[in-house]
Amino acid sequence: MGQALATARVFDEAAPIVARTQVSADTFELSFRAPRIAAAARPGQFVNVLLPSPDYGYRILDGEQGWRPARSFLLRRPFSIYRRHAAAGAANGAEALAVLVKVVGDGTRRLVELPEGSMVKLLGPLGNSFRPPPAGGAAALVAGGCGWASLGLLARDLRGNGHPTYAFIGAQSVETLPVRTTPASTRGASFLDALPGVCLTSAELEALGVVVALAAESGGKVYGGFVTDLLAAFLRKKAPANTHIYACGPWAMLRRVAELAREHRAPCQVAMEEHMACGMGVCNSCVVSVVLPDGSPGHKKLCVDGPVLDAEEVAWSEQPG
Ligand SMILES: Cc1cc2nc3c(=O)[nH]c(=O)nc-3n(C[C@H](O)[C@H](O)[C@H](O)COP(=O)(O)OP(=O)(O)OC[C@H]3O[C@@H](n4cnc5c(N)ncnc54)[C@H](O)[C@@H]3O)c2cc1C
Ligand code: FES
Repeated sequence: MGQALATARVFDEAAPIVARTQVSADTFELSFRAPRIAAAARPGQFVNVLLPSPDYGYRILDGEQGWRPARSFLLRRPFSIYRRHAAAGAANGAEALAVLVKVVGDGTRRLVELPEGSMVKLLGPLGNSFRPPPAGGAAALVAGGCGWASLGLLARDLRGNGHPTYAFIGAQSVETLPVRTTPASTRGASFLDALPGVCLTSAELEALGVVVALAAESGGKVYGGFVTDLLAAFLRKKAPANTHIYACGPWAMLRRVAELAREHRAPCQVAMEEHMACGMGVCNSCVVSVVLPDGSPGHKKLCVDGPVLDAEEVAWSEQPG
């Protein structure tokens, strides 16, 4: 069973940053005006972001050296398309798209420090997309850290189409959860009624009708432990019979999600965010091992054959280096 095919329409848009908000200690939401990519994007797809280089005439103030051309980032950085919305102040109602950026190195730090109005170049939408459950089917979305970005558009589409949707979102600490936390509503609290002390949720997701359960390995007003513990409890006790699982996060988390899905015979798709360079199927830096339909070993390039794969086809014993 293959994923929805990669889109044939890829655009290279010069896109201004139209909004930037801090979501948590290390994560920011950035919106870009990029109407063609936003209109074409499907859940699970990503954009490759080219950060400002001297070609843009962009300058930064560098201590005693004064103004100098901004450092050029040769490689584009991939980010999942998290949501789309009308761009504030756009005369023609042009659509914007947003990404969630967790700061991990030079490129991500540079990106979140760019002031509103700065131009970047976006290539996308790239990759394949999640297949929704059949009509009436429920969806369990499982995210580790910024993996939530890959599931944001899916959550909105699922609710728009009336699918019962549950979101399990985990991080190392409450401070690094990739959503803004708020005191739990009745719905969130009732889902976690067996867990004393859990009193934070995401009001934004609950407003969409998503049932939310948050986890942090270091604990603190959310479930203290792995997000996969929450999924396991849900599959054991609460999951509707026709639940489909969608996951994005670190390899070990995805492998555990795949195990649970197999145990409970739940269809499961995973979005994999391994290192990428070209993003176009040329350099082979994003190859993962898979099991082909005839049981023989094979490989897939995540930038073009993914990032979404069926959990069943991934060779989980062979984590990419
Ligand atoms: C399809 C796809 C979608 C992604 N979506 C998002 C997203 O929505 N939000 C987000 O914050 N990040 C996302 N990432 C990861 C993001 O692209 C990297 O974190 C980013 O490129 C790092 O750039 P940098 O210059 O800051 O870090 P670098 O200086 O290049 O590296 C800093 C550290 O981050 C690690 N790193 C770099 N790339 C990755 C990666 N792909 N996965 C794990 N670790 C990495 C490096 O090993 C190093 O330890 C996605 C990656 C892929 C492949
Ligand atoms: S990133 Fe180059 S082949 Fe996938």
